[in-house]
Amino acid sequence: MREVKISLVGYGVVGHGVVEVLDRKRKALRDMGLDLKLVSVTDHTGSVVADDGVEGQKILGERTLQQVSNCEISSKEIIRSVESDLVVEVTPTNIVHGQPGLGHMEEALSQGKHLVTSNKGPLVVAYGRLKRLAEDHGVSMKYEATVGGTMPLISLIERTLVGNNILGIRGIFNGTCNYILTRMTEEQYPYARALNEAQDLGYAEADPTYDVEGVDTAGKVVILANSIFDMNVKYGDVNVEGITRITPEALLLAKKRGYVIKLIGEVPALTVRPMLVPIGSPLAVGSTLNAAAIYTDLSGTITVTGLGAGRIETASAILSDIVSIYRTKSIDSIS
Ligand code: HSE
Repeated sequence: MREVKISLVGYGVVGHGVVEVLDRKRKALRDMGLDLKLVSVTDHTGSVVADDGVEGQKILGERTLQQVSNCEISSKEIIRSVESDLVVEVTPTNIVHGQPGLGHMEEALSQGKHLVTSNKGPLVVAYGRLKRLAEDHGVSMKYEATVGGTMPLISLIERTLVGNNILGIRGIFNGTCNYILTRMTEEQYPYARALNEAQDLGYAEADPTYDVEGVDTAGKVVILANSIFDMNVKYGDVNVEGITRITPEALLLAKKRGYVIKLIGEVPALTVRPMLVPIGSPLAVGSTLNAAAIYTDLSGTITVTGLGAGRIETASAILSDIVSIYRTKSIDSIS
């Protein structure tokens, strides 16, 4: 049985999902030979540290850790001083300066700990630096949940499509925008009503302009450009237009001609803009779904779709990244 000690940094919606999923899947993971032990959980109000494992059931009822905290040192200090193999970083994202997640990630990697995250901001701001830090310290950095949530995209390209040249990726990477456009098309809702509904579903960013102005999608385009296409680009390199000027009339006209309008991010073109998508196209998914078409030299076009956000869905992508770190065997070690 391989024991893996995990420090969880961030205890919001996704953090709760991670604790719940680790708890729910404990037996299945043990059957796989993995004992994933949560040795610390931290948020901005405190930390729970337990060498023999934090019991999920004891903290899942708490919205924050304030009432159950048993350690008052900073989150960076926790990453440094608690003995762990892997850090899961899921604090709120900031796409401008990447903090506080960026500092947590630098600390984890510098300490030689593997990193798994759903936090886009630090990767948008400093992907290259973080990647080098991981390589220098011989550890993995995994971030499937940052683009398309639970929809397998990065791992699909890196593992399953290995050997293919990836010629381009085009997709819907923001569930909030897709929900708004779907409701406006199907129910003829005005934009504001559709946005309110999307916010109620809990998908929208804290500041929903990040969604509707295309900022969130552009961040995901930057992550794909730097990680899959090795491009070394910044947010400012992306040409961005959101969905705020799309009217129900435009959507209706498109529908009459056999199209839907979707907010599409494209790599390596580095664009985010509303585009006409034929109604029968695999990219024409509705509601909060994300979708991505991957254009390859050997496999043609592969299209995937799935939920781009959500507590358990995002935690599922995080769990998959964690397991993949411990399942990866190099060709050298097999022969
Ligand atoms: N606000 C984002 C969305 C969350 O609506 O897709 C996932 O990044």
